[in-house]
Amino acid sequence: MQTRMIRDLEVPVVGMGSAGSFDVPMSEIDVRKQILDNCISQGSNFVDTSPMYRRSEQVIGVAMEGERDKFQLATKVWCTGRDTAVKQMARSFELLKTDYIEVMQIHNLVDWRTHLPLLEEMKADGKIGIIGLTHYSPDALPEMAEIMRTGRVDSIQISYNVMERQVEEVILPLAKEMDIGVIVMRPVGAGQLFSNLIAKPNLEPLREFGIRTWGQALMAWLLADPRVTVLIPATSRPQRIIENAAAGDMIIPPEMRNYILTEAQRCLKPVFYGIG
Ligand SMILES: NC(=O)c1ccc[n+]([C@@H]2O[C@H](COP(=O)([O-])OP(=O)(O)OC[C@H]3O[C@@H](n4cnc5c(N)ncnc54)[C@H](OP(=O)(O)O)[C@@H]3O)[C@@H](O)[C@H]2O)c1
Repeated sequence: MQTRMIRDLEVPVVGMGSAGSFDVPMSEIDVRKQILDNCISQGSNFVDTSPMYRRSEQVIGVAMEGERDKFQLATKVWCTGRDTAVKQMARSFELLKTDYIEVMQIHNLVDWRTHLPLLEEMKADGKIGIIGLTHYSPDALPEMAEIMRTGRVDSIQISYNVMERQVEEVILPLAKEMDIGVIVMRPVGAGQLFSNLIAKPNLEPLREFGIRTWGQALMAWLLADPRVTVLIPATSRPQRIIENAAAGDMIIPPEMRNYILTEAQRCLKPVFYGIG
């Protein structure tokens, strides 16, 4: 597994998201433990969650029990008002059973003017490591850029994949200029980059680089951009952690990045891929 840096935090290039996939009843905890075990064995141990994802923080906290030190946790504050944020983050620490969170992000930029000074205090107190921002929508990118330019954030989490490329214009160059880590949500377009296939991508020219599946091709395409720091594909299937993590070892030359894009354009339905 290749690693990259978000400031002084060394992260694997393929981690895992948990919206939906970890919002499950405790009766399904064994599969989540298996997923996390595979994350450890594959070195894919950067895990993203949020209080927005209902049971996800709690399920991660239980499934991770006894293995906290083997993970890097990224969660979010998603509310308005300082007091509510203090309580919500205290609850996240409790559910995740930890006294330190590697990455704390302002979810969808909600009430960022209130939360940013609070996160700076928590960072100074050694409670969190990295201060981040997230947003899924292209409409929010100008505001995200404005906050990035303050120099007060260490990471951003944005939608980026072969069919959602709006971040290439301003956000990725700015992240590079300001040494801000880039966490990529929706690397496989929330599954739409499979469900919207109208032809079968030809993976033959990619095999010499170790690429065996379309998912790996999509992730290798993202990782060929050095401004991308870590991908967080979500899955409910333990075996897929192994498939996705393998993309973290695949290095492709620029012509193969172009080839994957051409295959995506040939094989995918031209529909709107954002969440809206
Ligand atoms: N505003 C925000 O901050 C925000 C918004 C959106 C997402 N996020 C974060 O980003 C994470 C990832 O985004 P996402 O979950 O929306 O989308 P995603 O990771 O692009 O897609 C997840 C979906 O793709 C499928 N999948 C994963 N790997 C696959 C593979 N190799 N082959 C075929 N299908 C595959 C999964 O199905 P199976 O379960 O069947 O494997 C799942 O349905 C989230 O979980 C969350 O942590 C943050």
